[in-house]
Amino acid sequence: MNFHILTLFPEMVMQGLNTSITGRAVQQNKIGIEAVNIRDFSRDKHGRVDDYTYGGGAGMLMQAQPVYDAYQSVAEKLSSEARMRVIYVTPQGTPFTQSMAQELAESDELVLLCGHYEGIDERVLEEIVTDYVSIGDYVLTGGELAAMVIVDAVARLVPSVLHNEESAQTESFHGNLLEYPQYSRPVEWHGKKVPEVLLSGNQKNIDAWRNREAVKRTRERRPDLYERYQELSACKEILMQKKLHHMDMIELINRGRAILVGRQDHGEKGTEILLMDGESHVFFHTWIGNDRKADESAADRQSAETILRRMDGLCKYPVEVLSLHQREFVPVAEELGYGLDMECLQAVYTRREKLPITGLYRTDGGVLENGISIRPLTMEHLDAACAVYHTVDDPEYMRGRIAKGAMYGAFIDGQMAGFMGVHDEGSIGLLEVLPEYRRRHVAMALETYVFNRFIEQGMIPYGQIVVGNEASGKLQEKMGVCFAKEHVFWLSKLRDWSLEEATSAHVGGGL
Ligand code: ADE
Repeated sequence: MNFHILTLFPEMVMQGLNTSITGRAVQQNKIGIEAVNIRDFSRDKHGRVDDYTYGGGAGMLMQAQPVYDAYQSVAEKLSSEARMRVIYVTPQGTPFTQSMAQELAESDELVLLCGHYEGIDERVLEEIVTDYVSIGDYVLTGGELAAMVIVDAVARLVPSVLHNEESAQTESFHGNLLEYPQYSRPVEWHGKKVPEVLLSGNQKNIDAWRNREAVKRTRERRPDLYERYQELSACKEILMQKKLHHMDMIELINRGRAILVGRQDHGEKGTEILLMDGESHVFFHTWIGNDRKADESAADRQSAETILRRMDGLCKYPVEVLSLHQREFVPVAEELGYGLDMECLQAVYTRREKLPITGLYRTDGGVLENGISIRPLTMEHLDAACAVYHTVDDPEYMRGRIAKGAMYGAFIDGQMAGFMGVHDEGSIGLLEVLPEYRRRHVAMALETYVFNRFIEQGMIPYGQIVVGNEASGKLQEKMGVCFAKEHVFWLSKLRDWSLEEATSAHVGGGL
């Protein structure tokens, strides 16, 4: 991924970003950062780039021409197929958030335009800018610091920019909670002692203490986040009544990705919950009934005014994807223009301990006696992976997963023998073993590897198996995976957009 910063102060941004982790990533060619000096494109003999504002008012405005020419100097170099965004950093923009950083990390080329003086001539903004972004409700002297903040937050999401231990430190999920307090040596400093529980060695007690402190801190410092945390915690409690069937929704909440679109209490008939994954924008719907007879409540549920109808317009991808947890809502979704794609079983690995890897693969990437080694797939494997994968018909989806570092390949004698990955909504799947490598435990090695990575990060591994996929069912049983009794239903709706605009949407998941 490349960042291009259009600025009047190139040294300022380059000095800042060439340091620390972003600097290391540039040196290792993981990202590219260039600063383009807008003044170099001035046609004025004194190098001026600003002028008075029509209609009066204090201060000067940056003129359209030098900004446009600076932008053109970048755009000309780029391929027309590159996914490019042009961001104008301004206090009048949309507030920058972690989920915006995640979305921007999907681009290939990010152009950041830094304003000065009273701003920039509106006409050039209309012509080149795709996003207006603010880093907070305060006014800086120029856009450079804001651009640097955005580059830093986006760059660390580019796969392999953070080393493993750095991402484990900062990426382990905390739901909607702030970080708990942390302590290092010595045990006593300025008369203050490290809390006893942290020295106890009892991990269960330590985790419980950390969670309590995180909740307390969030309540005191960020009442807005705390309110969201409470709403989602209440939903999670309801979902836990049928844990296996709702592990997808529970994990969205645990991983801090869930957006509560709606919750409707239908009295004695039960509670309806609609979540959206903040990253993939996939919707998840369920109705957890009370203990009424199934037939009776099915009819009630379908005829009730369901919150499913609130989805309209919330998803900005061309393909809207919806996961229903009860069959009787399929007709409701069909009325809304969705089509049923597949019926799946939720499969959950419920144990907290990592699986033994002996004999399956090596963590250092080396080759075992059985000949298998596992490492992330890179773009050179894209065509081969698309050619063999049994359900994905969209190479763009596979490309996106590889780019995110979410696909793992098993290699035997340097050849790709199979792969497995993580879907954009967080379930494990995309498993395929090439025919000539079957019966050599490749699938088991891959699944063990991916499960263990999830467990290391404090997540519960789960996936969805298409009903009737017996080979996968057998493997999951061997792995000790538990199945939910009820099915989930994947639906999708193609909006009135041209498919070229498709970003990372996909249709359903399947192990
Ligand atoms: N330029 C000046 N102030 C800014 C802010 N708060 N966010 C983004 N760009 C800015």
